[in-house]
Amino acid sequence: MADMSDVVDQGDDEAAILAAGKVLLERLIAVDDWLPNEYARPHPERYQQYLLHCDSRERFSVVSFVWGAGQATPIHDHTVWGLVGVLRGAEYVESYRRAPSGFEYSAPPAVLQRGEVDAVSPRIGDVHRVSNGVEGGVSVSIHVYGANIGAVRRATYVPDGTPKPFISGYANTHLPNLWDRSK
Ligand SMILES: [Fe+2]
Repeated sequence: MADMSDVVDQGDDEAAILAAGKVLLERLIAVDDWLPNEYARPHPERYQQYLLHCDSRERFSVVSFVWGAGQATPIHDHTVWGLVGVLRGAEYVESYRRAPSGFEYSAPPAVLQRGEVDAVSPRIGDVHRVSNGVEGGVSVSIHVYGANIGAVRRATYVPDGTPKPFISGYANTHLPNLWDRSK
């Protein structure tokens, strides 16, 4: 988290933040021994997003996404930069761009494997749909966004491109204590 603060302290060059943040996120997800179970727990009906950390000035936030079997997001945007890294399992990512009749794929759908990081932003492509990439199992990904993402006004889309405003919020009301170093 301190390293990510250093990155955003360098300025708001988004390409530089994404490049440096990707390296940090790759390092974070390379080892799967730190995420408390409480923030890796799937919900029987819908994917979960747990806030793990928010920069005190809300310049970035770190979130765990937990995908139960068959769960997926709607098509949605972010309006800020984001990094998506797979900690456990895999994610199926469909990236979209505007088309005359709504949205079309901007790239072939891809499977993001454990340890891999993808990026989104209004500059490089901000609209996607993400699904659990593991059949019948649970996947967990760690996302870093350039804002307190749960409070950002953004949109989900129906396939014809009609936006529906949403503010995602978070599934948790408490944060993990990442600062107790007594053990
Ligand atoms: Fe997303």
